Amino acid sequence: MKTIYVLNGPNLNLLGKRQPDLYGTETLDDVTALCTRVADDGFAIHQAQSNYEGGLVDLIHEAREKACGIVINAGAYTHTSVAILDALNTFEGPVMEVHISQVHKRESFRHHSYISMRADGVIAGLGTESYAAAVRRICQLVG
Ligand code: DQA
Repeated sequence: MKTIYVLNGPNLNLLGKRQPDLYGTETLDDVTALCTRVADDGFAIHQAQSNYEGGLVDLIHEAREKACGIVINAGAYTHTSVAILDALNTFEGPVMEVHISQVHKRESFRHHSYISMRADGVIAGLGTESYAAAVRRICQLVG
């Protein structure tokens, strides 16, 4: 069994309750269930969330040993964190960057992403379907 790490950053623990007009009403558990549903046979999903930059760095280090690919929604750290970019650069498999909202339609500080400098694909604005598309792509790339 190959494992895909689905990593979520700050405030995404409140998915479903937080600004539902922007992020929808589905919860992180719903996202995990969706990812599990769309993953090809032979792939497992491991979802983890941290509100801390270092927590995400630790999860990426763990993924180095345990994951064939990473789907990451780093939340606001997307736009600020060189540490998360550096951690992703130590990972050898495919990395997909996801955003629930269409970040390019929002404030200009959300238009820049450090993670995009490493990501093999960037998906934004599909709602929670962004995660499903990312998981499908990793299954395709890893084979
Ligand atoms: C987000 C977009 C980020 O700008 C924001 O800080 C988030 C969520 C998204 O999924 O649309 O926390 O990554």
